[in-house]
Amino acid sequence: MSEAKRLAAEAAIEYVEEGMVLGVGTGSTVAYFIDALGRNPGRIKGAVSSSEQSSERLRAHGIEILDLNFTGPLSLYVDGADECDPHKRLIKGGGAALTREKIIAEASERFICIIDPAKQVDVLGRFPLPVEVIPMARSLVAREIVAMTGGQPVWRQGSNEKGVLTDNGNAIIDVHGLSIVDPVGLEAALNQIPGVVAVGLFARRPADVVIVGGEPPRTL
Ligand code: A5P
Repeated sequence: MSEAKRLAAEAAIEYVEEGMVLGVGTGSTVAYFIDALGRNPGRIKGAVSSSEQSSERLRAHGIEILDLNFTGPLSLYVDGADECDPHKRLIKGGGAALTREKIIAEASERFICIIDPAKQVDVLGRFPLPVEVIPMARSLVAREIVAMTGGQPVWRQGSNEKGVLTDNGNAIIDVHGLSIVDPVGLEAALNQIPGVVAVGLFARRPADVVIVGGEPPRTL
């Protein structure tokens, strides 16, 4: 699928305009996008990045990282996704960057999502839904998710006893076994649980354009 990811990422370059401040997501598809940006780093003014991982890659290409508090609204945000339904609603957070991704999506006038064809689904939920939680609330949130959805929450484990920690110092719960027929409703309901920082459902704010990598890339 990496060729399809590269093709989607390179097609997104068409949307980048001279002097823009860009929102940049996280993941292997975005890595191709950053590399494509890096071929002409002076074209954009700078980037607001959704993760330390992307910031490092952007800097390596000579692209300045800017603070969202000082940029104002962004005209364009480019990011990948773990799943995409026909309404351009997404599951994101496979790379644990969902909270910053949500912030940047909300701050952006246009969200271009770049995916390979395997990410397309009719109903979201085959990919376990990532939820970022305050570490002390992990078990509480997991119990509430079971009661609310019937899904199976799994604490995302890392290489130490604290599990995977996000760039914000929080834990990730991946909810398996969901069939998300009402993504907007589920996103709102999960956001109400105390201890939930962000839910990897992008339904209230879906993508505006989805580019599916292929020869040629398809735009939804
Ligand atoms: C990062 O937290 C995610 O939202 C990514 O956008 C998502 O996991 C897509 O990753 P790939 O581009 O590596 O498939």
